[in-house]
Order: sequence, then structure tokens, then C-alpha cells
Amino acid sequence: MDFKGQVAIVTGGARGIGKSIAEALATKGVNPVIADIGLEQAGETSAGIERLGVKSMAVSLDVSKAEEVIRVFDDILKEFGRIDILVNNAGITRDSLIMRMKEEDWDAVISVNLKSVFLCSREAIKVMTKQRYGRIINIASVVAFMGNPGQANYSASKAGIVGLTKTIAKEYASRGITANAVAPGFITTAMTDKLPDNVKEEMKKAIPLGRFGMPEDVANAVVFLASPQASYITGQIMHVNGGMYM
Ligand code: NAI
Repeated sequence: MDFKGQVAIVTGGARGIGKSIAEALATKGVNPVIADIGLEQAGETSAGIERLGVKSMAVSLDVSKAEEVIRVFDDILKEFGRIDILVNNAGITRDSLIMRMKEEDWDAVISVNLKSVFLCSREAIKVMTKQRYGRIINIASVVAFMGNPGQANYSASKAGIVGLTKTIAKEYASRGITANAVAPGFITTAMTDKLPDNVKEEMKKAIPLGRFGMPEDVANAVVFLASPQASYITGQIMHVNGGMYM
């Protein structure tokens, strides 16, 4: 799999799973743009990636803000001339039981996790349809399929991504654009570090492979779906969860 010279945008690529995805794409010769709300960390990640011998750029972006998305995608296009791969990875959690969930926590999670996929895909698709080539990979979650107490907003946002992914796949298949989602299980990152140890131990018991996933486990799946070799796969959900949901 070599797709040297292609341009990828990875949202939320400054750390965690997004960083691992950007690094894995870079090892295949792809030039990754790190679009993240945390510009400083995005800059460090991008600088590290350039040491792998590809071109990279860090941009400050709040994926939930339409005007920002439009402006930043335009800037990226001016700088790189094309957009081959979009990885909609940025995501947040604001957990609580439904009875206690604040409306602003519902809205924030839906905006950052789901509305963002619409906003970023809309801009990327404008470019990809002209190129007659594109790969969109959305990061969903196992909780979209299983539900999870305390994560009504999060699981709804991730289930929304599944329907949106299939719709993008159907609308733009004829233009050479594929859209797929990767649904990770429990992956060791800053997002999951904050869970109490007893909860983590309980969760591990439900994973047939007996371990939590690493960001690289997700990145490997994304790289495959982003590659030219995955050209006959669209509208699919790839589960990366150690078997905890099958
Ligand atoms: P993380 O919290 O380590 O990293 C998320 C990144 O997104 C950060 O760099 C953050 O600055 C950025 N971000 C947050 N809000 C943003 C916004 N409004 N605009 C732009 N960037 C923003 O999280 P992690 O674990 O790496 O998660 C990445 C994706 O994988 C998320 O969509 C998450 O829901 C999903 N996921 C993670 C799982 C896990 O177990 N860690 C499991 C299933 C899905």
C-alpha cells in the first residue's frame, strides 16, 4: 500500500487516535494536515510527522463551527492543491445519566462529534467530486451499536455517524468517493484514561482478546480504508474492538 503524495486531513489529529492515524498515513507517503482545536499540540504532532519525510501542516480548527471549517478547508486547498483523504476523528465526551444530562452537554457532543462530520465532509466532497477521487473515513464507536449507560449524547452522535457515512457513500459513489466508518472499542488514550480502574477491569472482562486496543490498532484499519486498494469498499463499518461486539 503506497499512496505517496496524497493529502489527508485528520481532525482531532493532535493526540490519541488521530495522531496515530496521521503518523500511520505518513509512513505510507501521505501528507497529513493536523486540524485540531489545540493548535500547540497539533504543531508538535505535525513537526514530528515531517521528520518522517512528508509534508505536514497544523491548523487551528473547531470542527463544530461552519465558518471555521469552510475557511480552513479553503486554506488547506490553497496550500496543498488537493484533498484525497478526510478522517473525521475529532470527538468529545460529556457523560452523565439522561436524567441529569444538561442540554448544553447534549448539544456540545452532537455538534463536535456529528455535525462536524457533515460540515467537514461537505467541504471535502466539493474538492473530491472535482478530483473524481476521495476517501472519507469517520470514527464512530462500539457504543453506537451497543449503547452505554451515561453516554446518551455520545452514543447517539456515533450512531448518527453510521447513517451519515452510508448516505455519503450512496450520494458520491459515482464520483469515485468512498465513505466508511471505523468503530473502535475501548482504546487506551486520554479520553479513556479518566475512567476509574475498577470500571476498566470490568470492561476488560467483556473483551474476548483480553486487552484494550491501542491507537495503532485503529490507525491500521483507517490506513487500509484510506488506501487505493480499498476501492471496492464503501458504506461499511469496520469494527476494531477485540471482539467485544460482534
Ligand atoms: P482524545 O481526547 O485523546 O483526542 C481527541 C482530539 O480531538 C484532541 O486532540 C482534541 O483537541 C480534539 N478535539 C476535541 N474537540 C475538538 C473540536 N471541537 N475541534 C477540533 N478538534 C477537537 O480522544 P481519542 O480517544 O483519541 O478519540 C478520537 C476519536 O475516537 C473520537 O472521535 C472518539 O470518540 C473516538 N473513539 C475513541 C475511543 C477510545 O476508547 N479512546 C473508542 C471509540 C471511539
